[in-house]
Amino acid sequence: MKSFLKIKDFSLAEAREVLSLAEKFKTQRGSFCADLLKGKTYALIFSKSSTRTRVSFEVGIREMGGQTLFLSANDIQLGRGEPIIDTARVLGRMVHGAVIRTYGQEEVDLFAQYSGLTTINALTDEEHPCQILTDIFTYERKHGSIKGRKVVFVGDADCNVARSFVHAAELFDFKLTCAAPDGYQSRISNANTTLTASVKDAARDADLLYTDVWISMGKEAEAQERVKAFQGYQISTELLRLAKPDCMVLHCLPAYRGKEITEDVLESRAEDIFEQAGNRLPVQQGIIAHLCGVR
Ligand code: CP
Ligand code: NVA
Repeated sequence: MKSFLKIKDFSLAEAREVLSLAEKFKTQRGSFCADLLKGKTYALIFSKSSTRTRVSFEVGIREMGGQTLFLSANDIQLGRGEPIIDTARVLGRMVHGAVIRTYGQEEVDLFAQYSGLTTINALTDEEHPCQILTDIFTYERKHGSIKGRKVVFVGDADCNVARSFVHAAELFDFKLTCAAPDGYQSRISNANTTLTASVKDAARDADLLYTDVWISMGKEAEAQERVKAFQGYQISTELLRLAKPDCMVLHCLPAYRGKEITEDVLESRAEDIFEQAGNRLPVQQGIIAHLCGVR
């Protein structure tokens, strides 16, 4: 049983297959693979809030003929301390697949191992792989191949979204620059990644400027110190002037105006940013179809 728990679970060829399936789901909505999940139920186990990920998986699975079972971790025994490996062994006997949003990466790894189910990482503290495949899909539909492009991540480079970008930079062979203050720089890197504290140096000649919240879910207790540390790590009109003229701006959302992105950049780039949000649907359908063996 194949799962998608981190970006590197896919080879480049597999990731490319997912993106081409996503294109079919997007352009043939409602008719492509409409019966693929007939008779199948996917459990969505979420320990953190979600709008985009939850809705896109629920709608996407239903449009493929399947059913969804949304399980807030607090409403099942998991929230009262039942181990993830026991939850996994129970659900493995009842449902056909699982989508999990949680804290530790080890929880999705253990769930996949003990359930035997196709399991998809819907965000952990380590990675947000469905998001990054969507971001690449969104960039490439408008600007062509991301290979060799300069992608700049501004903000908390030690967060899940940034980490998945670091892995994706190596897989898709684009140049990633992470601009982050001391203490919030990426702890992982590779030959495709440059780490800097200078947001201006980073933004120069960028093809894609990207940001995410300063305070990820689970980090609320650090809110005050983070807001102080991240001052200036913001996508603004001035920063955008340093980038290439056709530079795309993306944000995984939710956005906090006046913090990681200014109101005017968010609103002037809303068409791309909300297209990106909408693309979660076909890309995740592409991931599921690929995991089900559709080629
Ligand atoms: N970008 C993203 O994953 O959004 P949600 O938290 O709303 O699912
Ligand atoms: N880094 C953010 C992503 C939200 C989609 C978080 O973990 O809260």
